[in-house]
This record gives sequence, structure tokens and C-alpha cells, in this order.
Amino acid sequence: MEAAESNPDLRHTGSLLSTNDVSLEHITSLLALANDLEAEPHATRVQRLAGRIVALLFYESSTRTRTSFELAAKLLGAITTLVSDKSSSIEKGESLHDTGLTLRALGAECIILRSNYSGAPELLARSTGLPVLNAGDGMHEHPSQALLDLRTMLLRLGLPQQLSSTTLRGLTVVITGDVRHSRVARSNALLLPRLGARVILCGPPELCPVEALAIAPGVEIERNFEHALQQADAVMMLRIQRERLAGLAIDTADYILRYQLSAERLQRCAPKALVMHPGPMVRGLEIDSAAADGPQSAIEEQVRHGLAIRMALLHRALRPAIEPGL
Ligand code: CP
Repeated sequence: MEAAESNPDLRHTGSLLSTNDVSLEHITSLLALANDLEAEPHATRVQRLAGRIVALLFYESSTRTRTSFELAAKLLGAITTLVSDKSSSIEKGESLHDTGLTLRALGAECIILRSNYSGAPELLARSTGLPVLNAGDGMHEHPSQALLDLRTMLLRLGLPQQLSSTTLRGLTVVITGDVRHSRVARSNALLLPRLGARVILCGPPELCPVEALAIAPGVEIERNFEHALQQADAVMMLRIQRERLAGLAIDTADYILRYQLSAERLQRCAPKALVMHPGPMVRGLEIDSAAADGPQSAIEEQVRHGLAIRMALLHRALRPAIEPGL
């Protein structure tokens, strides 16, 4: 029995705080629900969460996650409201706890939270008793991103969506760049080995410290990007998170020379590997445009899969009784 549930009490509320909250059986059900919801005609799909209220609470900027959660809620018929730190009483010092209680008093039945504080989604779930979907918390986790990345890999590589501990056996996923500050790297490095994948983290020591080995047993570090690429079935590139560097100086020219995924490097070292990036990309830094837009790229597919995965997560949060497997 595969078990990796760190928050079993919150799991039953429909919250998603960490990839470790969901069993492989549960993710299999979510993937099936995502397929069903994606294929369902608009006229019936829009009835599923008709009139339900979803609050998006964003303390950090976002394009993909915020928009796809909002569109996913609307495609299911829910009413959405956005609270951003830039234009709300958060600017006046209102706490996360009080903001959550305020949203609940206004009728919110589910809160999607992006926060710069690791652990904030769990605090909000405990404060409000509502299902909370973690849309990225500090340097901790971005679990819906890992789920959409998984759906992208399974579909693009023609693998079964009935998951087990061997679904990704024999596959190597290289995660390259600013691993230190990346919640996407962490969520993927937690999830993919549970499916049998080999995960190699790659980057200079200041962005990919040896402490990253503690994320999950079996995760490896390779400093030489070309050596890592030669082993890759999929390569996930990460943006350098300048907003979190806190004085850390990076020699950009040297970084590009050693770690940029260029089309030339990709063709030479990994001509068949799937190219992924959670976005936002900084073209010309961690990836060049020819690699980002080339035939091996799944970057736009990742965005599209975000919509289906987030519909499934919202459905699970707001109608848990309907999917007994969830
Ligand atoms: N991948 C991701 O989280 O992108 P956004 O910051 O645009 O939401």
C-alpha cells in the first residue's frame, strides 16, 4: 500500500497542500476526473459547481496558476472572487487568518491560496475549516503544478494513467536551474520517485545545494548539465527566482554557458527528451527560444493541462461525496 499522506486530517476536507497528501490511487482518480471534465459538454459541465463560491487569494503575482484556477472554476459554473495583496486590506496589515475568516463570512466555500510563506495554506485550512488549494507557498510546494506536469508527461510519453509505483520506472527526469528556491522542483521531486522515476537535480551549488538531496530518498545531483541531459527522458527547466535570491550573486554569462537549455545543446545531448518549464520563462537565460518553441517542447501543453487538473481539484474540494475514490 503506497502511503505518503502528511496531512491525513486535511486530506478529507478536499484540501491540497502537498503532493504528499495524495496517494497514487487518489491521483489516478483525479486524472480520470480531469479527463472526464475536459471532455464533458459545456452545458452539463457548467452545472457541476453552479452557484458555488470560490475565492482566489493571491499574495504573490501569478499568470498561469491564477488564471487557470479561475477559468477552471468558471467552466464548472462556480462564482469566483479574487483578493490580491496589492488591492485589498492585506495592504493595511490584515492577517491571513482574518482574511480567511472574512472570505468565509462572505460565502467562500473553497480558497485557492498563493503565498510567499511556506506552510500558509495549512494555516489557512486550519483557521477556516474550508478546503484550501495550495497555489504555491514560498519555497515549499506547488502541488497542482506537479500534477499538471505529471499529466503532461503521461500523455506525451504515452504512459498509462492508472498509476503505480512502476508507472515511470526506467524514466529519468532532470530538473535544472534554481532548485533551491523552487517549490515546483520540490513538489516534482517528491512525487515522481513515488512513480518509479529517477530524478536528477542539476545546477551550480548556490542554486542546487546538496541539502536538496533531502527532498526525497534516491534523488540525485549532477553538476554537469550536459551529462545530466544525456540521461534525460524529460528535462524541466527552472527560472532563476531573482525575487528570492536575497543577495546571492549569480554570474549570468557563466550560468548561460553552463546551464542554458539551447536548441543546439538539446539536439546534441538529448534529441528525444521532452522539454518542460513551469513558467514564467526568461528566454535567453535558462532556455533559448528555439528550445522553448521547438518540437520537443511541451510547455504550452503544461499550461493547457493545468485547466483540466484544476477543474478536477475544485470538483474534489467542493463535491467530495460524488467521487468516493477521491
Ligand atoms: N507555473 C506557475 O506557477 O506560473 P505562475 O506564477 O504564472 O502562476
